[in-house]
Amino acid sequence: MSGDGANSSDTGLNSNPYGSTVEIFSDESVLKEDWQPEKLPEREKELDEIRNALAPATRGVNAHNLFLYGKTGQGKTVAIDHELDLLNEYANSQDDLELSVIKTSANNQSTSYQLAAHLIKEIRDGSKKPSGIDQQSMFDLLYDELRGLNETIIIVIDEIDSIGSNDDLLYELPRARKNGHLGNQWISVIGISNDLEFRDNLSPKVKDSLYDSEIEFAPYNANQLTSILERRAERAFVDGVLDGDVIPLCSAFAAQDEGSARQAIRLLYKAGELALNNDDEVICELHVREARDILERKRIEEGMRSLTTQDQLALLSVVALEIDEETPARTRQVYQKYKDIAAILDSNQLVERRVRDHLQSLGMQGFLIVETRNRGIQGGSHYRFEVKTDLEATLDILGEDNRIDDVVEDLTDIATAKNLV
Ligand SMILES: Nc1ncnc2c1ncn2[C@@H]1O[C@H](COP(=O)(O)OP(=O)(O)O)[C@@H](O)[C@H]1O
Ligand SMILES: [Mg+2]
Repeated sequence: MSGDGANSSDTGLNSNPYGSTVEIFSDESVLKEDWQPEKLPEREKELDEIRNALAPATRGVNAHNLFLYGKTGQGKTVAIDHELDLLNEYANSQDDLELSVIKTSANNQSTSYQLAAHLIKEIRDGSKKPSGIDQQSMFDLLYDELRGLNETIIIVIDEIDSIGSNDDLLYELPRARKNGHLGNQWISVIGISNDLEFRDNLSPKVKDSLYDSEIEFAPYNANQLTSILERRAERAFVDGVLDGDVIPLCSAFAAQDEGSARQAIRLLYKAGELALNNDDEVICELHVREARDILERKRIEEGMRSLTTQDQLALLSVVALEIDEETPARTRQVYQKYKDIAAILDSNQLVERRVRDHLQSLGMQGFLIVETRNRGIQGGSHYRFEVKTDLEATLDILGEDNRIDDVVEDLTDIATAKNLV
C-alpha cells in the first residue's frame, strides 16, 4: 500500500511528513494509559467486594481497611478509582456524609517517614514536602493535617510495597482514632500492592492493624483480555481497520506473559501506530508481532539500565549457559560460569551465596525464570535458572555496555553460529 494517496494532492499537504493518507484511529485517547473505562465487567466480583468494604462509610462508621494485591496490569488501580468515584458521587448527594479521599502512590517513598511527608504534601495540595524533623514529629504533622479533613477519611496507598519493611506508618494510620490523634473522625486505609510477597513479609502487628479484608486480582485470561480490548477497539479505531486476528493475538501474547491488561492495550495501540506509520490501511498480525518485539525490547532496556555490574555478570552467566544449551542451570553451574566471566573481565568476584542473591533478584525483576526445588527430607531447597527475556534482544542490550561488550560479542558469535539468535 503506497503512501501517495489520491486524496492528499488537493490539500497541498502531501509533502508534509505529518500528513497521513490512511485513517486508523477515530479516538486514540482511549488507548492511552490514563483513560478511565466506565465499565469493568471482568472485575464484577472484586468491585462488589470493594463496595462491601467501603459501605460502612455510608452508614456513619469507618470503612474497612482493605488490601488489594495482584500482578501489575490487573485493574487494581482502575477498580479502586471506579468505586471511589461512585462513593464520592453518593457522598455528594447525602447531607450527612462528609468524605475526604486521599490518593497517593508510595512509589519512590521507601520509608514510613517519606510516605508521611508525601501524604502531607498531598493533603496540602501539592505544596512543598516537609523535611528535617524526626519521624514522630512527621507523624504528628500528618495527624494535624488529617484533623483538618472531613469526618470520614479514606487513604489510598497505591504501590504500597515500595515501603518495604519500614512500615510503622501502616501500623499507626489505621489506629490513629483509637490513639486519640484525630478529632471525631473515622479513618481507613486501602493498600494496593503489585508484589505478592509483600503481604507475607509484613510485620504481624501491621498485618493485624491493616487487614480487615483483602482482595486478590488474579491474572486475566485470554478471553477476558479479548473482551477488554474489544471494548477499547470499538471506540479507538475507524471501522474496518482491524484484521480479525489482531485482538486475539494481542490477548494471547499478554495472557502468555502475565495476563496484564496494560500490556494487551499497549500492544494493540503500538500495532495501530505501526500500521499508521507505514501507511497501511489495515492493522494485521504482522503489526502485532512487530509491536511485541518493540515493546519487549523497551521493557528489557528499561530494566537493564538499573542493573549493577554484579547483576549484569550474574545475568551474563545464565545467558552463556543458555547458549551452551545447559539451562535451566543450578546455582553451582552458574557460579562456575560467573567465575570464568569475572576472570576474563578482571572484575571483583563475589562468593557463591551472594551471586545466588543476585540471580534471585534478577528473577524478581523478570529477567530470569527461577525454579525452586525442595530437597526433601534433608530440608532446604535448590534453584534452577534460565533466561526469560528474548535472547537476541538481551545480548544486544547487554552489548551496549562497554564494560562487558567484548564478552557479549563472543557470546553473540557463538549464538549466531548455533542459530539461536
Ligand atoms: N477490566 C478492565 N476493563 C477495561 N480496562 C481495564 C480493565 N482492567 C484493567 N484495565 C486497564 O488496563 C490498564 C491497567 O490497569 P490498572 O488498574 O492500572 O492495573 P494495576 O493497578 O493492577 O497495575 C489501565 O489502562 C486500565 O484502564
Ligand atoms: Mg496500579
